Amino acid sequence: MKSFTVAPAASIRGRLRVPGDKSISHRAIMLGAIAEGRTEVSGFLPGEDCLATLAAVAAMGVAVQRTGETQVTIAGAGLRGLRAPERALDMGNSGTAMRLLTGLLAGQAFDVTLIGDESLSRRPMERVAGPLRRMGAAIDTTDGRPPVRVHGGRPLRGLHYEMPVASAQVKSAILLAGLYASGETTVLEPAVTRDHTERMLEGFGQPVRRHDGAVSLAPAGRLAGCAIDVPGDISSATFLLLAGALARRGEVIVEHVGLNPTRTGILEILRLMGAELIVEPTGHAGREPVGRITVRPSVLRGAVIPPHLVPLAIDEFPAVFVAAALAQGETRISGAEELRHKESDRIGAMAAALRALGVEVEEQPDGARIVGREDGFEAGTVDSHGDHRVAMSIAVGALRARGPVRILDTANVATSFPGFVAVASGLGLGIREDADAGRRG
Ligand code: S3P
Repeated sequence: MKSFTVAPAASIRGRLRVPGDKSISHRAIMLGAIAEGRTEVSGFLPGEDCLATLAAVAAMGVAVQRTGETQVTIAGAGLRGLRAPERALDMGNSGTAMRLLTGLLAGQAFDVTLIGDESLSRRPMERVAGPLRRMGAAIDTTDGRPPVRVHGGRPLRGLHYEMPVASAQVKSAILLAGLYASGETTVLEPAVTRDHTERMLEGFGQPVRRHDGAVSLAPAGRLAGCAIDVPGDISSATFLLLAGALARRGEVIVEHVGLNPTRTGILEILRLMGAELIVEPTGHAGREPVGRITVRPSVLRGAVIPPHLVPLAIDEFPAVFVAAALAQGETRISGAEELRHKESDRIGAMAAALRALGVEVEEQPDGARIVGREDGFEAGTVDSHGDHRVAMSIAVGALRARGPVRILDTANVATSFPGFVAVASGLGLGIREDADAGRRG
């Protein structure tokens, strides 16, 4: 099993780019696969999650070529050109890959089984299977979880669906199925969620109508392959920005990072907590806004996190927990029950990890109350529960510990941030990775 050991550090300094956006990389592969003509993806995230999506479309007969570490060329098979894979598609750790592909596969002519790792096999899939069945799809889950079996050859009809949870994955799965349906498909969101699918569909020539918290599309005639420049992932940048804010000295500048307003809730939260952030928009990567973010050492204060920011920063909450744990005063997080259904139960995992480092945390069903320890973490060992974002958050928080912090079960960091250890140590974090031969991971 892999682990990190992190030593305290005072200075964090550097100017860098982070790996490509995970959500956008998945979508580029999926839409490229069902488009006509070539799609050239640059800035692709070569993390395990997106590589699983790439392998899945290749297993369905799509010619994909890695022309460089972050360059992928896809020869689109067209909306109806995918072929039955020979075996189950393994989506590894990725909920996004499994849920979005379930929607896309509902419209195909063949049967497919989707499987995943231990963490993914515990995650809820009825949230996509339910509405897709209402469109006419035939989908079996296993007590609501993976494996998911999608039976093809069923005609789909458009759906008007009011989502009970604010989920971009559910929205996207339904929209992808909607490409194959008769009639219009509309998804209403209870709160704004990331809109990369909508933006990218438009880039492939598919009109999408947005109106009053809803998204509608008509069945696709065809999607046209295109060039996609994937911006840096603000979710990955968050760990480095937090490190820069927590440090006593230095400055961190992240360039060419995605600034889509459905993803920047973390910047608002960190500012609310006193982080000294400078955000400079620099232009667009395709249809996605990008820019430069600078952070300086900051005095963080506890805050009541506004619940409307939760879906706009959903993946950044492990970092918010760490910011809160090292701030002056108390932080309250609520309206975040969805965190319990991520790669781990992130409320439970973060509460346990912070307690192991001497922080007072009161867990609630939908959040937590965290009492900041300005004097830093105690030295100790924490379990990341195989959750990449839990591991990276604790790793950066450990720069403010009073001794070494060991983080267990860190192999999954490679799902979203390949090279994290090298990048973080390049900035000044005293991080070391160990591999214990013969054990998992
Ligand atoms: C994602 C949506 C979010 C997010 C996940 C990526 C996406 O999940 O947590 O990491 O790419 O659509 P939910 O839709 O479950 O909130």
